[in-house]
This record gives sequence, structure tokens and C-alpha cells, in this order.
Amino acid sequence: MTNRDIEDVVDTSDEWIVQRTGIRQRYVAGEGETTSSLGEAAARAALDNAGLTPADIDLIICATSTPDNTFPATAVNIQNRLGMSHGFAFDVQAVCTGFVYAVTTADAYIRGGLAKRVLVIGAETFSRILDWNDRTTCVLFGDGAGAIVLEASEGEGKTSDRGVLTAHLRSDGSHKDKLFVDGGPSSTGTVGKLRMEGREVFKYAVGMITDVITAAFEATGTTSDDLDWLVPHQANRRIIDGSAKKLNIAPEKVVVTVDLHGNTSAASIPLALAVAAGDGRIKKGDLVMLEAMGGGFTWGAVLLRW
Ligand code: UT7
Repeated sequence: MTNRDIEDVVDTSDEWIVQRTGIRQRYVAGEGETTSSLGEAAARAALDNAGLTPADIDLIICATSTPDNTFPATAVNIQNRLGMSHGFAFDVQAVCTGFVYAVTTADAYIRGGLAKRVLVIGAETFSRILDWNDRTTCVLFGDGAGAIVLEASEGEGKTSDRGVLTAHLRSDGSHKDKLFVDGGPSSTGTVGKLRMEGREVFKYAVGMITDVITAAFEATGTTSDDLDWLVPHQANRRIIDGSAKKLNIAPEKVVVTVDLHGNTSAASIPLALAVAAGDGRIKKGDLVMLEAMGGGFTWGAVLLRW
């Protein structure tokens, strides 16, 4: 759905959307598609890319705020769609920071010896919880899914190791009313619609993002010069550019896909990874920073070697 297509739905313009957000188009799940069907497609693509099959996976973690159903977990639906009845699967819900939380969780399970190969998926159908009469939100979000496989291997405890080097997660529920869904099983008994005070979220975004990225650099003794790629959550081009500038990360090291996908919440980082690994930019051994901030508020950064 292009910005021009959205002009037919609400009083907005391609010019406003591009100037304020950098978004040019977003995808909307078709009839019969669900978060788990998108997640399954992403999972299969990741497995193919890794030369693995579902039999090789012992844990599936799906980051989503738009599950197929309140329960069972979308990760369990995806497990079933993949024909898996071994291992275990669960969802992580941290809105736009979901994928950063899920990668951190997968890494902790691997380090703790509870899993060897983890399929980490970010999958969303935000189109289903948008108020399509509210131009301040409906132009911003889209649907999609992406996935990676994390595998246990021995490292030397150095930053030259591959995998997750450090993770910094934060949340602060006092910001709840700035970005939330106005329904739920235990409050209204309805699904609800997304509500956001965009300007308020914007005010906090760059500071929160740069705090956790700085913590990741400090924890590993690395700097922005060492970084090969910043793969940010794709909410708004101005937030991405502002964060990179504040941290002296060169614009050519920043992966931007918000123009292609809009804000796909927990799916935005793995979609950006798929684009930048797929076109050959992100290569084995590269130092990659993932970061996100979203509803809750939740925010976090993961520094990893690809
Ligand atoms: O991923 C989770 C985190 N979420 C975010 O990171 C979103 C953070 N917030 C943002 O990205 C930005 O705040 C927005 C893109 C949502 C809005 O940009 P803004 O520069 O903060 O605009 P604004 O809300 O201050 O609105 C400016 C004007 C208003 O009109 P007035 O009051 O100045 O006359 C709005 O009514 O733009 C108007 N407006 C629109 N105009 C055309 C709001 N939405 C639209 C629209 N089309 N879709």
C-alpha cells in the first residue's frame, strides 16, 4: 500500500508522510493471512538460508504484539505450521522492542544450556489493530515478518567471537499512555486499537536509543568506528538519523528500510537484516548493532557479530 493509496483512506499526503517519517509504502496482510502465516514464511526462509530444517531447531521464540489469538502463542502456531512437535516455543511481547528482547532471550537460553539452535522470529499484522480513521497512526504502520537462527558455539569471550556480544534491555511502564492498544482480554474483553501520542514518543526516542547503544559500546570496549552496521528499529527516518548523528555513526553504516515497510514493530529489525544481508551489505564477521524503542516504553540494544 503506497502513500498515494493511503490518500484515499484518510486526509493525508505522500509529501507529509515522506517528510515526517520517510515512509513511502507498507505491506498489508491479505485475507486469510495471519501473524503465524507470515512468521512461517520468514522462518522457512531463514532455515533455507542457514541450510537447516525444522528438525535442527529446539526452540522457537516469536516476538509479536499482534498474535493470531490471545493464546496459544503464535510461536506454537508457527511450530505446528513447520511440522514440528519436538522442542518448545513461546512468544515475547515488548512491542517494537520485541525482536531485541527475543534475540536477548534466545542468547540467554543458549548460554544457559537450555537450547542449541533457536529460531527467532519477529512477526506482526499491525494493520489489524489500526484505527483506519486516525491519520496520525494508520499511515505509519505495516505488516511483515523476519527471522534469524542463533546457534550455540564455543567462543573465547572476546569481541571477535561471533554471536551476541552484549545486550541492554530497559522498560518503564510510566509511559504506558503514550503508545498502547485500548483493549485486551482482562480489561475490555476486546482486541482494541492502537493509540499513540506520536510527538510524545518522538521526544523520548533518540535519548533512550542512544543510552542503550552507548551502554553496549561501553560494555564491550568498542566504539562507533568499530561498528560495521547499525540496524535500527524502523519507525521514523528522523529518529534513525538523529540517533546515528548523536553517536557519530556514519550514515552509510545505517540500514534504512522504513521507506519500504513502514513501522512493522517487532518485524522491522529482522526485515531490515533480511534486506541488508540479502543484498550483500552485512557479511559474516561484521559487527552489527540492533536497537529499538517502543510501547511501554520498552527499549534496548544488542551488539552482535554476524
Ligand atoms: O515504533 C514505536 C515508536 N513510535 C514512534 O517512534 C513514533 C514516534 N513519533 C513520530 O514518528 C512522529 O511524532 C509522527 C510521525 C507520528 C508525527 O510527526 P510530528 O512531526 O511529530 O508531527 P505532529 O504530530 O506534531 O503533527 C504535525 C501536524 C499536525 O497538524 P497541526 O496541529 O500542526 O495543524 C497534525 O494534525 O501534522 C498533522 N498530521 C498529519 N497531516 C497529514 C498528523 N498526521 C498527519 C497525516 N497527514 N497523516
